[in-house]
Amino acid sequence: MNPCPKKRVSLLVGSPKRKNSASATLGLYLCNQLDSQKFDYQEIHLRSALSDKQNINVSYWLNDILKSDVLIFSSPLYVDCLPSYVFQVFEKIYQERKKTRDPKEIQFLAIINSGFPESSQSQTALDICQHFAGESGMLWLGGLLLGAGFIVGGRDIRKMGWLFKNIKKSLDLSAAAINHGKVIPVEAFHIMGKPFLSKKLFCWIGNIGFKQMAKRNGTVRQLYDRPYEKEQMI
Ligand SMILES: Cc1cc2nc3c(=O)[nH]c(=O)nc-3n(C[C@H](O)[C@H](O)[C@H](O)COP(=O)(O)O)c2cc1C
Repeated sequence: MNPCPKKRVSLLVGSPKRKNSASATLGLYLCNQLDSQKFDYQEIHLRSALSDKQNINVSYWLNDILKSDVLIFSSPLYVDCLPSYVFQVFEKIYQERKKTRDPKEIQFLAIINSGFPESSQSQTALDICQHFAGESGMLWLGGLLLGAGFIVGGRDIRKMGWLFKNIKKSLDLSAAAINHGKVIPVEAFHIMGKPFLSKKLFCWIGNIGFKQMAKRNGTVRQLYDRPYEKEQMI
């Protein structure tokens, strides 16, 4: 007896980073929680896929996306929206599916993480994803929003204990839903959206990060400069 063919999942990473991307970390954790007897997944780094000039037309990566059963899009928030090349990919997917008379059934899920601690900053980006999925005739599974995502970076979610417990729980709930062919439960959305750091701790960690960055760029002495102060006083 032939076993049921596995479903194809494509993880579309929207971050331009090749290393230590929170988007890739969140997406990969989710993919790894999927039932491996039912799903096979592959990761597609959208920035790299688009920058390869030979692949700019309908190419292997676009075909891979179009042949998928589930698309998991995981991206950072950039200037209150999504990175520009993500829209190029969305447009290509939309156009290809519109050309096809009977496009394949595809489920679409989005995870957006931002730098600011309030996950609601990414709501507009998530709405754009939902609109894109609907217009492209895909089934919207739901979305997850995470604030202060830079703290996740390339860390191992399984090993971060209490700090990442809500992130882990939300992704586990989402994976269970996908495994059973269901939409992401509202609970998963709420749990992921809970700030995992107090404002005080967020500022403390943020300040350390800024100081380290200044050190790397040789600008520690300029950190407290107020170059326009004199001009304003005149
Ligand atoms: C160019 C740029 C623009 C950004 N714009 C925002 C923003 O508007 N709001 C926000 O909360 N975070 C913003 N961020 C922070 C990222 O969303 C955040 O660091 C995220 O965790 C990065 O995810 P990644 O590691 O997958 O790239 C921005 C970062 C960069 C580099």
